[in-house]
Amino acid sequence: MSREILLLSGPNLDELGTRSPEIYGTDTLDQHVQRFSDAAKAHGFSVRHLQSNFEGDLIEAVHGARASSVAIVINAGALTHSSWALADALASFDGPKIEVHLSNPAAREPFRHLSTLSGVVSGTIAGFGATSYDLALDAVLRLVPTTD
Ligand code: DQA
Repeated sequence: MSREILLLSGPNLDELGTRSPEIYGTDTLDQHVQRFSDAAKAHGFSVRHLQSNFEGDLIEAVHGARASSVAIVINAGALTHSSWALADALASFDGPKIEVHLSNPAAREPFRHLSTLSGVVSGTIAGFGATSYDLALDAVLRLVPTTD
């Protein structure tokens, strides 16, 4: 059985570290991914990470995950608030799907209050900064069936 988690990062998350640090913190995306991957590895999971500023890349990665991954953790950035196509793709993935955000979109501008993804994911973790990724991994560990 595959023990791969697909970790997806949407538009502008490649700018973490310098992008609005008062909102998103100063950790780079590489640092978030490294921490997530190390923690996943300690639990017997590998992590495949893709960051893209292009919606279609993320959709195709979700399609590919049907054959290769047991779970998806996705921070879709602003596509969270606009992409019905990404939501449709995620709907066809059967395993656990965790929507994650560093900030708490519900406490920010009104356009961030809609998530097109929330209705198709297993659950959402938002507002805990870097810890959001730790909590997302914890959710995966609880939701993915054990191998033995
Ligand atoms: C974000 C929240 C989104 O509203 C925003 O567009 C992002 C980052 C977060 O992690 O807090 O790019 O997903």
